[in-house]
This record gives sequence, C-alpha cells and structure tokens, in this order.
Amino acid sequence: MTILVTGGAGFIGGNFVLDWLARHDETLVNLDALTYAGNLETLKSVQAHPGHVFVHGDILDSALLDQLLARHQPRAVIHFAAESHVDRSIHGPMAFIQTNIIGTFQLLESARRYWQGLEARRQQDFRFLHVSTDEVYGSLAADDAPFSERHPQQPNSPYSASKASSDHLVRAWHHTYGLPVLTTNCSNNYGPYHFPEKLIPLVILNALAGEPLPIYGDGLQVRDWLFVSDHCSAVRRVLEAGRAGETYNVGGCNEKTNLEVVRTICSLLDGLRPRADGRSYAEQIRFVSDRPGHDRRYAIDAGKLERELGWRPAETFDSGIRKTIEWYLANAEWTAHVRDGSYRDWVSKQYG
Ligand code: NAD
Ligand code: DAU
Repeated sequence: MTILVTGGAGFIGGNFVLDWLARHDETLVNLDALTYAGNLETLKSVQAHPGHVFVHGDILDSALLDQLLARHQPRAVIHFAAESHVDRSIHGPMAFIQTNIIGTFQLLESARRYWQGLEARRQQDFRFLHVSTDEVYGSLAADDAPFSERHPQQPNSPYSASKASSDHLVRAWHHTYGLPVLTTNCSNNYGPYHFPEKLIPLVILNALAGEPLPIYGDGLQVRDWLFVSDHCSAVRRVLEAGRAGETYNVGGCNEKTNLEVVRTICSLLDGLRPRADGRSYAEQIRFVSDRPGHDRRYAIDAGKLERELGWRPAETFDSGIRKTIEWYLANAEWTAHVRDGSYRDWVSKQYG
C-alpha cells in the first residue's frame, strides 16, 4: 500500500510525513517542488527511511504526475502543496494562480486518469484528499457564529481566492467524474518547522534576535489556532473514515487576537529565555501598517468532524504554544538555515 503526498517538505506536509512514517508501514511518496517554503532539513530524520520516497518535482508537471501514479499505484493522494502566505499573494498573485489553481487542476486530471484505469475494488477505495483553509469562507464579525461547512465561500485575498478556486475544482471533479474526493478546511496552524514569515514563528525568532515584533493595524484581528499535529491527526482521520464528496472543517476552538498571541509568546519567552537586560520581550512590539484587505476574524465550527468521525484536538493553545516555543529554542540550527539570504530579501520587501 502506498500514499502520494504533495507539498510534504513544507510546514504542515512535513509534519504530516514525519507523523505518518512514525505510525504506518505504508510507503509514502512525497512530491515537492522545494520552493522557498520547502525544506529538506525538516525531513532529515526520515531521509533514509525505507518507506519514504522523496521526489523533487512540480504538481504543474502532468507527465511527472502520470508517471508517479502509474509507478507507485497509490491508494490515496493527499494534496498539501500550495503557495500559502497571504502577504506574498498580495505582492505577487501569479504563483498562487499557477500552483493553487492550475496545479490542483493538473493533479485532479492525473488522478482522474489513474483512478479511471483502476479495477473496480481499488477504484472504490481510492481517495483524493484536498487540504484547504478556513480563509475561503471570508471574514466574520465579532458576534457571528463560527464557519460551518455550509458557510458561503467569500474569499478576500488572492491566496484565499486561489484556494477557494481549488476547492471548487475538487468538488466538480467529484460531481462530474465521480472522483472520490475529500476536502478539509482548517484554521491557522502553528508548531514545529513553521516558516518564519508567518506570525507565530516570526515573533518567536524576532524576539530572540532583539528585532521588532510587527503587529498589523490594531492587532485585534482574531484567528482560531490549531497545533499542527492535531491538523495531521484530522487529515489521517478524514482519509480513514470521511465520506467521499464531503467537506470537513478542522479547528481548535482557540480564538485569540493577534495581540494576545504575541503577548503570550513574549511572556513565555520571558520565563524560558529571559532577555539579557531583564526587560520583557513585549517592549519589542511595534504597530505597523495593516495588511490590505485584512480579514478581521476567523473561527471554525469543527462539530461535523467530531460528531461523524470522533476527532478532537489533543492540544490546547497553552500546551501547544509552549511546545512550539520550546521547539524553536531547541532547534536553532534549523531556523538559522531557514533565515538565509532569500528570507532576508522577503523581510526587507514586506517590512521595509
Ligand atoms: P507551506 O508554504 O509551508 O508549504 C507548501 C509546500 O508546497 C512547500 O514544501 C513547497 O515547496 C510545496 N510546493 C509549492 N508549490 C509547489 C508546486 N507547484 N509543486 C509541488 N510542490 C509545491 O504551506 P503549509 O502552511 O504547510 O500549508 C500546506 C497546505 O495547508 C496548503 O494547501 C495550505 O493552503 C493549507 N493550510 C495551511 C494552514 C496554515 O495555517 N499554514 C491552515 C489551513 C490550511
Ligand atoms: O486560516 C488559515 C490560514 O492561516 C492558512 O490558510 C494560511 O496558509 C496561513 O498562512 C494562515 O494565514 P494568516 O494570514 O491568518 O496567517 P499569518 O501568520 O500570516 O497571520 C496571522 C495574523 O497575524 C493575521 O491576522 C496577520 C497578522 N500578522 C501577520 C504577520 C506575518 C501580523 O500582525 N504581523 C505579521 O508580521
């Protein structure tokens, strides 16, 4: 038995690959283009693992996709690969259209050709699991109910519009061709191996480096945080027992304002790695220009996943954020290598 994972050198895909190989004997083929966000150092511990087949390649390359599916005969495709950073999508939307829309289309087409050639039993068991985001639903007001799977899609950024497009393609390939698809829409993840362009790792590493902690606008935007290993367990559970054609929301019931998140990180760091001058890291907080079109609030209702498949997150925000900070403190080499020249170029483009 084999599964094919796309984007398994990124943050969530990388955590998924490590968790999967620790739990299953099944071979995992990991297709990743190694963009700026893909990092083979995340996969160092499984480099020589007999069940891990890493393929450096692009989901836009349909000949490669056809070849991989024919050679490895996977029982499932789990699709993490994407351009994932909202701010980058504002500076340069084209890569998001290419990978998130055209790339998902190519993957669906190759999966369809492969699936149609399988014998009946294997056709029935095959799954295409599309990993998507809560951002496709748009933005909530303070007193709105959390997003359910029935919430209309109202994406507001080039990133979320490209992910919503990919969700629609996945839905259509099920409805029209019968491809057995599953879609998960998850809230904000955090945890080990998170690229430091995103809020939580950026704040941890900037704090330790004595640099400003940038808060967009008033810092009162709300995100619903989920520890990454809980997202991985949700994906495994949906793959195992989700109903083909269905969409499942994944979230941690951990709504926090950005200011709360940043202050929590500062106070944990004050205890775990005090500043040399004895002052709080919170003194490094700086309010900067807001993100254009910044969504105010995301919140996920994950009740369907709990009721139908019995999934619940294992971590609270308090336990997860402490684990995350401890991981960054213990893995200075990984972060030093990530913060190389191209990362510094991004920081000067975004923050001036
Ligand atoms: P990431 O940016 O850390 O990793 C993306 C990975 O995809 C990288 O390894 C990159 O090299 C690879 N990739 C990019 N373009 C590719 C291409 N054309 N072909 C092959 N590989 C390519 O992203 P992430 O944060 O790990 O997110 C993974 C998935 O989960 C995405 O689909 C994202 O939309 C979704 N998601 C993310 C979050 C979050 O909080 N990070 C929450 C919900 C859903
Ligand atoms: O909700 C799921 C989404 O979460 C995923 O689909 C995306 O791939 C992922 O990047 C994430 O999107 P966000 O835009 O919510 O995450 P980000 O870490 O970029 O920002 C979190 C919040 O913090 C957001 O309100 C913007 C704010 N922010 C971010 C950065 C980088 C700041 O205030 N300052 C910053 O420097």
